[in-house]
Amino acid sequence: MKLHSTAVHSGDRKRTGGWVPVTTPIATATSYFYDDIDDLDRVFNKDMPGQSYGRYSNPTNDALEELVTALENGEGALACSSGMAALHMAIETALLDQRRVVLAANLLYGATLNMLVKVFEPAGVETVFVDFSDENAVRSAIAEHRPGAIVMETIANPLLRVPPLDRIAAMANDAGITLVVDNTFATPLIMRPLEFGAALVVHSLTKYLSGHGDVLGGVVVAGKDHLDPLRSLSRMLGFTLGPFEAYLAMRGIKTFPLRMERQCANTCRVAQWLSSHPAVDRVYFPADTSHPDAENIKRLFAPGLFGGMVSFEVKGADRDEIFRMMNALKMVVPATSLGDVHTMMLYPAMSSHRELAPKHRARLGIHNNLVRLSVGIEAVEDIIADLDQALAAA
Ligand SMILES: Cc1ncc(COP(=O)(O)O)c(C=O)c1O
Repeated sequence: MKLHSTAVHSGDRKRTGGWVPVTTPIATATSYFYDDIDDLDRVFNKDMPGQSYGRYSNPTNDALEELVTALENGEGALACSSGMAALHMAIETALLDQRRVVLAANLLYGATLNMLVKVFEPAGVETVFVDFSDENAVRSAIAEHRPGAIVMETIANPLLRVPPLDRIAAMANDAGITLVVDNTFATPLIMRPLEFGAALVVHSLTKYLSGHGDVLGGVVVAGKDHLDPLRSLSRMLGFTLGPFEAYLAMRGIKTFPLRMERQCANTCRVAQWLSSHPAVDRVYFPADTSHPDAENIKRLFAPGLFGGMVSFEVKGADRDEIFRMMNALKMVVPATSLGDVHTMMLYPAMSSHRELAPKHRARLGIHNNLVRLSVGIEAVEDIIADLDQALAAA
């Protein structure tokens, strides 16, 4: 071969010998060949396991999918390029039987809500929004609208409501409706929705599972009825996760349970402290015995774990005071995301729920003095000291 060909071909395509890499390498190849072209034909035909083309599967993504499937106790998974891509894939899969109505919780991540209204609705899919903490409202909406899919979050953003997932799953299964559950906030350490009867579980990998603020990704975990349609759709739509991100997500997931335990413990301490702070009007936290969904929390959550999120309202504050507080933060990061090792403060009216009309936000209870904290793994004393001085500045 001449130099130009050598530069393209040498070094690649080493056969796997008898060794096993201890951690999964990043596989960047987008296509594969076999000693005999018949084998590639068998792989395409699913008669033989193997790789053919990067949009269909990839060894690094396969490893990540196997890992998340095991975490959520599913049948299989699909790694996607973002949490929103994963949600889109899950809802499309749920609606494959052509029923064109979605029943959705009225408290959802803002982009999910927007996707239903601005992407699915113009494509002919109507969404009916209901308060999912009200079981009777869900039951009536199922009877009246006969939806093809139900969409909800295990811990709803940003007021941390916890709908009765087990009861909604029972209603969905009785009526033959595909239940799609976003488990990003609770994570499989606290709750595994497939075990309660959900059909498809979605994660933004960007959050707790990866945990270091350096990966954008998502995953759909499926039970056995929905895995093949999910994979077939993905081959056409191609919202595939890149192998670098898959590698980073796997690396992050190895420490996810340890991080999450620490985040849960820190959040309990921060929530307690906020509850007795004179500048704080109201705290939203699932460990609170007066939480409106306390019964659901007791039934559904792993004992002693209440998640790493806490929201609170600052007494008499509006946008200006909240901005002053966020600008005063020294260690806590005033940025948009959650689930990372560092504590983050977010203002829902400005970011996660920005696209909603102020009237709609107010109706959902997302007031202009509400902030949301994603508590990290730092020393809890440092988190509290920083919040204390920032609240003083507000
Ligand atoms: C609950 C929830 N689901 C889904 C998403 C979307 O994830 P991504 O940003 O990875 O697309 C987010 C993002 O904040 C989220 O909070």
